[in-house]
Amino acid sequence: MIKIFITFVTLTTTCSFAPLQLQAQNQNQSPIPSLKETFKNDFLIGTALNTAQIQEKDPAAAQLIPLQFNAATPENIMKAAIIHPGWDQYNFTLADQLVAYGQKNKIKITAHTLIWHSQLPDFVRSIKSPDSLRQFFTNHITTLASRYDGKVFSWDVVNEALEENGSLRKSIFLQLLGEDYIVEAFRLAQKAAPHTELYYNDYNIEQPKKRAGAVEIIKKIKAAGVRIDGVGIQGHWRASHIPLAEIEQSILDFSALGVKVMFTELDLSVLPNPWDRDNADVSATAGNSTGKDPYPNGLPDSVQNVLTKGYEDLFKLFLKHKDKISRITFWGVNDGQSWLNDFPIRGRTNYPTLFDRAYKAKPAFYAVIATKK
Ligand code: XIL
Repeated sequence: MIKIFITFVTLTTTCSFAPLQLQAQNQNQSPIPSLKETFKNDFLIGTALNTAQIQEKDPAAAQLIPLQFNAATPENIMKAAIIHPGWDQYNFTLADQLVAYGQKNKIKITAHTLIWHSQLPDFVRSIKSPDSLRQFFTNHITTLASRYDGKVFSWDVVNEALEENGSLRKSIFLQLLGEDYIVEAFRLAQKAAPHTELYYNDYNIEQPKKRAGAVEIIKKIKAAGVRIDGVGIQGHWRASHIPLAEIEQSILDFSALGVKVMFTELDLSVLPNPWDRDNADVSATAGNSTGKDPYPNGLPDSVQNVLTKGYEDLFKLFLKHKDKISRITFWGVNDGQSWLNDFPIRGRTNYPTLFDRAYKAKPAFYAVIATKK
């Protein structure tokens, strides 16, 4: 699985260069409204950024991102496998570039992520002793959180620590460090990064059982006298099945705990998901796309309408609770760059964001803007 993810990193890094022709075309287009301006009194509007975008190698993206977004999350470059590949080896270059990019463009950075079971470096995955893992855990959090304190706006301190039934995921951290590892991660982050907001982030935590697990985590951190500033609901949903009622209840339940609520990785898939039918293991279903890529040449209007309506419904709900929501971040600037073209099946054609493959605003973009009117 890690290997697959690392392939995606390479893919997303290399595939998103816009042709020069496209730049010219975009420059001739009349200006479109700005998401960050439209919602400036409501919440931050963020995007995930890949390497090419951080390095401004993608001209169309370099033009669009600062106009539309005032928040960003590195899609991969601050994950442990990339930023901390060996015991005493750190690759800070890209993260430092991201911080500079954010400063230049007035974009608040949420660093992603300190403690996560996925995209771990090989040396961590082969650790067997609690002492060694604790040493990695302490060094990793302390080194990164202190280096970027005050330079990034926030950290996803712990990512995806829950199973669907609300129990703690049986990750290497739970198995070797015990269930207090989550509180300890926040304690270390708080010490190293006193000027940085600290969040718990996960997917499907709008669902009742998993939400109850997240509520327990937040309560436990607070009961230990440790700081947690917010909770991120990732928001990887299917456009045709957005759990609006559960999302609304989650906004209420989480904010009642006194933390900020964020939607941190929003994208709406329009493709069939094999998991919905057979609940198979990720690696088992991530095969090739033969016969499973229904819209390789464009989205039919009927499906485009479902996507548009999905985004419209969501933003109406977000605005209703804008006093509790601090940020909405899209997981990818445009459709071509989205991880959902390669997950859970590689090589498909998905349409989950507000901008098409030529960075043109889609009907969903205009529907989101219109929710403010
Ligand atoms: C994804 C990236 O988008 C891909 O490029 C990478 O190959 C795998 O990870 N939950 C998270 C994100 O917290 O970090 C994941 O990002 C998507 C699911």
